[in-house]
Amino acid sequence: MSFANEKIIIKQLDFRPKSKNHPFDCGNSDLNEYLLRYAWSNHNKGYAKVYIAVNPTKASRNILGYYAISAAALNIDALPESLRKGQPKQVPCVKIGRLANAIAVRGKGIGRKLLFHALYQTVEISKMVGVSGVTADAKIESIGFYEKYGFLRLEDSNSFFLPIETIKQGFEKS
Ligand SMILES: CC(C)(COP(=O)(O)OP(=O)(O)OC[C@H]1O[C@@H](n2cnc3c(N)ncnc32)[C@H](O)[C@@H]1OP(=O)(O)O)[C@@H](O)C(=O)NCCC(=O)NCCS
Repeated sequence: MSFANEKIIIKQLDFRPKSKNHPFDCGNSDLNEYLLRYAWSNHNKGYAKVYIAVNPTKASRNILGYYAISAAALNIDALPESLRKGQPKQVPCVKIGRLANAIAVRGKGIGRKLLFHALYQTVEISKMVGVSGVTADAKIESIGFYEKYGFLRLEDSNSFFLPIETIKQGFEKS
C-alpha cells in the first residue's frame, strides 16, 4: 500500500476504535493503547475531545493519526520568566494530551496537519474562553517536533507551552 501524497481529513472521533478492525501503531504503546481503550469513552464523557485523521476517499475508518485536547491550567511558576508578566497564577491553557500518527504514514506532513488543526481549534476556543496558550507533554523522541513549531520547553520537564499570541500570528502570516 502506498501512502504517497496521502490526502486526509481531520474530524472528531465518531466510532469506537477496535484493535481487530482498526489497528493503529504509532510505535508508542501508551499512545496506541489510549486510542483503542480510552479515546472513545474520554471523548464521549467530555474529558478530552479526540480528533482523527482518515483518508477521505475511502469512507475509511483506517485511523492514520489522532490527537486529544482538553482544558488545563499551568502554574505560573512553570512558565519561562519572560512569559509570566500579567498572567494569572493558574494559567489557562488548552492541552494537547496526545498526538500521534501511524508509522506507515510518518514523514508525510500528517503530524504537522494534526498539530496545526489543534492550534486552529485553540484559536477558535480562545474567542469564547480565556486561553493563554497551548501546552503539550512530549515523548522524548518528539521533543524536536514541538521545538520546530516554536513551543517553549518548560523547566525540568518534557512539557511545552506556546503562547496564544504566537499561534494567532502564525495563522495571520499563512
Ligand atoms: C511526532 C510525530 C507526530 C511527527 O509526525 P510526522 O507525520 O512524522 O511529522 P510530519 O511529517 O508532519 O513532520 C513535520 C515536520 O516536523 C519534523 N519532525 C517530525 N518529527 C520530528 C521529531 N521527532 N523531531 C524533530 N522534527 C520532527 C519533520 O522533519 C517535518 O519537518 P519539515 O517540514 O521541515 O520537513 C510522529 O513521529 C509520532 O506520532 N510519533 C510517535 C508519538 C509521539 O511521540 N507523539 C508526540 C507526543 S504525545
